[in-house]
Amino acid sequence: MNLYKYISEKLNNALGFEAKLEVPRNREFGDFSTNAAMVMAKSAGKNPRELAGEILEKISGLDFVESASIAGPGFINIFVKNEFLWDAAKTSADITQSATPMVIDMDYGAYNVAKSLHIGHMRTSIVGDVLYRLGRAMGHKMISYNHMGDWGRSMGFVIAWIEKLHPEWPFFQDNFDPNGDYSGYTFDPAELDTYYPSAAALAKSDEAFLEHAQIITAELQRGHAGYNALYKIFMPISLASMNKTVKLLNIVPFDNDLGERNAAKYTEPVEKMLRDKDLLVKSDGAEVVIVKRDTDNKPMPPVMFYNSRGAVPYDATDIMALYYRKITDNPDRVIYLTDKRQSLHFEQLFRVAELLNMFPADALEHIGYGTINGADGKPFKTRDGNAAGLNDVIEMVQSAARDRIKESGKTLDDETVDNIALAALKFNDLSHDLRADYIFDPAQITSFEGRTGPYILYTAVRLNSVLRRAGNFTNPSHINLGTDERNLIMELLDFDRTVTAAFESRATDLVANYAYDLCQLVNTFYHNCPILRDDVDSETKNQRLTLVKVAVNVLTKTLDLMGLKIPNEM
Ligand code: ARG
Repeated sequence: MNLYKYISEKLNNALGFEAKLEVPRNREFGDFSTNAAMVMAKSAGKNPRELAGEILEKISGLDFVESASIAGPGFINIFVKNEFLWDAAKTSADITQSATPMVIDMDYGAYNVAKSLHIGHMRTSIVGDVLYRLGRAMGHKMISYNHMGDWGRSMGFVIAWIEKLHPEWPFFQDNFDPNGDYSGYTFDPAELDTYYPSAAALAKSDEAFLEHAQIITAELQRGHAGYNALYKIFMPISLASMNKTVKLLNIVPFDNDLGERNAAKYTEPVEKMLRDKDLLVKSDGAEVVIVKRDTDNKPMPPVMFYNSRGAVPYDATDIMALYYRKITDNPDRVIYLTDKRQSLHFEQLFRVAELLNMFPADALEHIGYGTINGADGKPFKTRDGNAAGLNDVIEMVQSAARDRIKESGKTLDDETVDNIALAALKFNDLSHDLRADYIFDPAQITSFEGRTGPYILYTAVRLNSVLRRAGNFTNPSHINLGTDERNLIMELLDFDRTVTAAFESRATDLVANYAYDLCQLVNTFYHNCPILRDDVDSETKNQRLTLVKVAVNVLTKTLDLMGLKIPNEM
């Protein structure tokens, strides 16, 4: 239940206008407050305190109101009834379903074939997954795309490198037989990952090699039998190693891995649509779509549809990918999640979609996230100056978590340690504002104290252990709520609102920070309100255990939305 929304709606109904409901930081004078009387006084031709008095009369009979009072120039403070809170608390974990469920395509991850995942793929994967889970929990039909980079210049590089290593292989011969059996040709996944960087490095100094790789890309796209047969060998190997990392991150498997190559199949119909609208313009041997508008006050370059080699570049494949989604999912929304450096690309793309009448502007969203930096404030790199591999980053956090656990004198099995490390990594990533950069520090994020994933898991493990030790308990026959209990219930009743707000404002940090705030309040409650001590009477004990149980439910759901599991012990 979304308590805030419930109370807002009840108030608005009783008053006949929209009163802005506030949640005061200090709840000494009320659980909620509103300045409605002050806002409405003028138009009502009354003084604010007089109007506040009338409002008080109208709301004092509402089911949730314990008491309401006027403060200062006309603020209205409202206390909520304990019985009402108590009954509502039991529904805290329920998520209100969207009144307008949508079909939402989500494009995140978007890994590149034969280029292993690096730290730049971390936020898109983690945050994309959480948005996916949030949308799904609210009743939207979410469809995730790992829009694979499996078609562009990197494919030419990889194939050119393989040719350099094995020039005698059949894929490179003129008499290549497309119906032959090539099952004997395979690659070691780790070695495959080195091909692209090696080729890209060589291309910097070797013009002829670069030229050759570019020709290979164009030929691959034109259907060259040998190159395509080779592609079909290394692509699944690469996909399997991507999926291993996806599994390590415990993100929901992608609904599909259709990327650039699939999109390119729709070049013809999209080209026709563009030509019918006269949108393709010749430019230096290439063909482009002009997306500039008179109102632009920044550079807005044209979108390349065919380059001078006749290949369809990255920009163009995204137009086809949108077309594909339109004719298959017909989504109400498409959400892309990439590094913010791709913002211009998506702005251009969305303009093309509008020009084609494919999607209205507000159906397409790009979320550009910030960079993950090292202690020096520059993009996080390995010692050799390369972008850190995502598997290495995960291992780094696992080893930091292992150190922390050793320091604390605990012994935990490997699975638990990996669980804790994952919580450290994901919680940290999620707790930052998505659009901002942050500094990645494995030692800090694995701490058991402070705003960290391990702290949250630890709180959950402790609550579970209280419930286990308590065994069976019954509902209390009457309730008696103190400040700590009320504070906790208020937070529990903010879960549903948080889910909605996080999804609707695409702000996954709200979920992570909610988990932290909830843990803080649970821990204060647990500290001040003993449960299993002998001197606690059974009514009080039942009441507190009931609360712990609700808190565990809500916390488990919150963690689940982040793709995190609670260990059995910690
Ligand atoms: N593969 C691209 C990269 O690693 C990201 C693709 C994002 N999605 C898209 N539809 N363009 O940079």
